[in-house]
Amino acid sequence: MIPLNEPFDLVLFGASGDLSTRKLFPALFSLHLDGRLPSEWRLVALYRREHVDFIENLRIPIMLNHNTNDESMKAKWDTFATHIVSFSFDATAPENYGELKTFVNQMPDTSTIFYLATPSVLYGKICTGLANAQLNTENSRIVLEKPIGSDLTSAKDINELVSQHFKEQQIFRIDHYLGKETVQNLLVLRFANTIFESQWSQKYIDNIQITISETLGVEERAEFYDQVGALRDMGQNHLLQLLCIVAMEPPSRFTADAVRDEKVKVLRALRTLNDLDVHKKVVRGQYKTGVSNGSAVKGYVNEAGVDPASETETYVAMKVEIDNWRWAGVPFYLRTGKRLAHRACEIVVNFKEVPHSIFDLQHKKTMANKLVFRLQPDEGIRLILCEKKTGPGVNVRSTELSLSPDYLHRKRVPDAYERLLGDVISNNQTLFVRQDELIAAWEWLDPILKHWNESEQGPEPYISGSWGPAASTLMLAKDGRLWDETFSPSEQEADE
Ligand code: BG6
Repeated sequence: MIPLNEPFDLVLFGASGDLSTRKLFPALFSLHLDGRLPSEWRLVALYRREHVDFIENLRIPIMLNHNTNDESMKAKWDTFATHIVSFSFDATAPENYGELKTFVNQMPDTSTIFYLATPSVLYGKICTGLANAQLNTENSRIVLEKPIGSDLTSAKDINELVSQHFKEQQIFRIDHYLGKETVQNLLVLRFANTIFESQWSQKYIDNIQITISETLGVEERAEFYDQVGALRDMGQNHLLQLLCIVAMEPPSRFTADAVRDEKVKVLRALRTLNDLDVHKKVVRGQYKTGVSNGSAVKGYVNEAGVDPASETETYVAMKVEIDNWRWAGVPFYLRTGKRLAHRACEIVVNFKEVPHSIFDLQHKKTMANKLVFRLQPDEGIRLILCEKKTGPGVNVRSTELSLSPDYLHRKRVPDAYERLLGDVISNNQTLFVRQDELIAAWEWLDPILKHWNESEQGPEPYISGSWGPAASTLMLAKDGRLWDETFSPSEQEADE
């Protein structure tokens, strides 16, 4: 464990929101438990409304997360809590920022991190407030949660406002998927081995699939989600970032700008979609009633806080093409959705079939090699190969080589937010999104949003607990392919 030595003040806007309570506080507490935080650090937690015992109320769920409520852990929490000050704060009122300054340590050796866990429409106002109170010092950093903007124009406007007061080297645009262990392992696997690199192109790869499927619905975030939808919530950021990591060229070194230079090239090489393409290559869906994890669940428009006439998509699938030498002709199929059959996140690299088979392969297609990066719920990497079935004759069957990394045997895999908070504290931007990447992603997405806005056709319905709309299966079927759904336990059982 690398200790984070530099003293810091973390000013958290939106401290009582879903993200802060579910992810940020627990991540900071885990860093504290691992002894990684310096002796001098403070969290200035700002929330919108008055909350009685706000910090104490966080303790129980966080302890439960650690499967404990014992006294020693409680003592550790008590020490942790001494580092926190919290108060209600209206970020839209310019006069409040002067008062905030009195809470922030301005010592030259202490960095100040402003974490904006609020809707991105507030980013401009908050940055202006901080600048007017002269809080945007050389020693300050700002962390921006996604989605930044709701389309290309608003994303540009927000970036412009933020960059009036903070330099790019001070801006940390977070995408927590980049903090997941397997994503970093994918970088190592690709760029620390020669055997994969030689296979990593249109010469040997048939198609790549990236799936982020959730069983949850919109839960407590209906109001936010109904304004956003799956494409902005997961597509613009997590799915495209994963695609970049898979498709990028080897950077010359593992530094923030060298890595991000390569990712932005991928985004700029994405084939632009016209109206007809959107129709053919993008599927949007919305969940209806059904059964999820064994219980009957409501349809999206019946969820509390959702407009009953809502056309917001809770599912999106896309066929993405990259116009460069490495990837010409290799489709990347991306999909994500809520209330799907299983919770999983996988990147599946499907290799081409052998050019000529000397064996009697009954299911040639299913015998092609596959490299599977599983990000969740459990993490690991599998290589699917062919082997001879023991016994008479030469019968070929598929087998798996598990490249499960050593962290699977450790007690706890650190959450992505722990890693990323640690990177902000130690001022390392490698796993954060640069301005040009963000804009390039919106540039590619904008025609889809425009087409949907103008289209009379709403999202395709799908039953909760299914794998999404039939149109998505059809999209791949037209290319003679299937979604890889072998991560579904029931199907694995059926195969055996
Ligand atoms: C967030 C989205 O970025 O990622 C949520 O806003 C989604 O809608 C979440 O549920 C999924 O994250 P994870 O790490 O649980 O897969």
